[in-house]
Amino acid sequence: MSKTMDQIMTDTWLDVFTTKCSTWQNNATVSSAKKLLHPKIEEIMSADEGLRAKSEIQKWDGYKVTPLHYLEKIAKELRVADIHLKDESSRFGLGSFKALGGAYAVFRVLSQLIEKQTGDKNVNSADIRSGSYQTITKNITVVTATDGNHGKSVAWGAREFGCQCKIYIHRDVSKGREQAIAEFGCEMVRVSGNYDHSVQQADIDSQKNNWHVVSDTSYPGYMDVPKYVMQGYTILASEIGEQIIDKIPTHVFLPGGVGGIAAAISAELWRIWGENRPKVIVVEPEAADCLYQSALSAKPAQSSGNLETVMACLSAGEVSLLAWDILSRSANAFMILNDQTIAPSMRRLAKEGIVSGESGAATLAGLAAACQNPNSRISLGIDENSRILLLSTEGATDPHIYKKLVGIDADKVVTTPLI
Ligand SMILES: Cc1ncc(COP(=O)(O)O)c(C=O)c1O
Repeated sequence: MSKTMDQIMTDTWLDVFTTKCSTWQNNATVSSAKKLLHPKIEEIMSADEGLRAKSEIQKWDGYKVTPLHYLEKIAKELRVADIHLKDESSRFGLGSFKALGGAYAVFRVLSQLIEKQTGDKNVNSADIRSGSYQTITKNITVVTATDGNHGKSVAWGAREFGCQCKIYIHRDVSKGREQAIAEFGCEMVRVSGNYDHSVQQADIDSQKNNWHVVSDTSYPGYMDVPKYVMQGYTILASEIGEQIIDKIPTHVFLPGGVGGIAAAISAELWRIWGENRPKVIVVEPEAADCLYQSALSAKPAQSSGNLETVMACLSAGEVSLLAWDILSRSANAFMILNDQTIAPSMRRLAKEGIVSGESGAATLAGLAAACQNPNSRISLGIDENSRILLLSTEGATDPHIYKKLVGIDADKVVTTPLI
């Protein structure tokens, strides 16, 4: 039976935030450099490449700055000065920030292949969309393994730019997520093993067939494409920089899967706000804690858990090496959370009229966990003067699971009047 918004809010959402629901590790290797972006980060995420991504993506049909919400009541409940939440649920109609990275990387891969064949330099997306290079693009196949949103972005990019696309998914990807990707006309390949198996199979098949892997994670020998993916994400931080003109946040909570989005945003906020940039706290599921483990050992490490988590899109076994190069210098702390914190956080945001999915709500859960534990509050320097920035990376990307966890359909969240 579906519940009303009143009914679902009868429990106190903060009850689950006991001292056992989370733990954190301050980052011993964070850079003390103040004003200017650390040179290693500049090397990976150069200002020019960021501007190139921004000016390209801003020209895409359907580009719109996503909303930044002010959460006054939740700030009072958590005893902080204010909270802003960047809401990526509407990005390009794809339901998550991922629309920016995968599709931009598809564009960059295609423009390079076109340049190789024709000698034409700086091919832009309008040229590709106009069909001028159709004879080339229709014979190119892009491939990725995914558990949801990245694959959707690659499939969407492939359709936009007129190339072939194959998306590999593992045994646990829900039917709902599979369907949402297949809608873009790509070929879906379901692999019987876990995420790592789907990555391996995509790689083997690509090598055999001369397809092009467009992955969001970097590993030895595969660095360029994930860099494009992260460059695509930086537009999100540029928007925040334009939306918050005064009262720069003191803390930003970012979600961590392989680390790409947290790395891109922390790098760009450093570039924008320099020595006034906020402390960066990266939030992960305890069952998929590769960034937290990397912080503990001060080098890239594997997750210690079985990767089974309600935060489906944060279920990563290994960090992206490029992301770690950035986060090891730019993140102040890494936090892990148990799954029980997620549904109450999704419901609390629903009460504010914000649709935030299982991975999207992880940052509010991380903030609540940090605030409710006196030790983490002190250790992370959070008090009643703190100004918090949260990133909600997705809406109801699996509407079925959303309804199961929140109690009502996502479209009702927006239309139900708030009390
Ligand atoms: C909705 C959502 N949030 C967060 C993430 C984590 O991003 P990253 O793997 O770059 O850390 C993902 C990754 O797929 C995602 O889809």
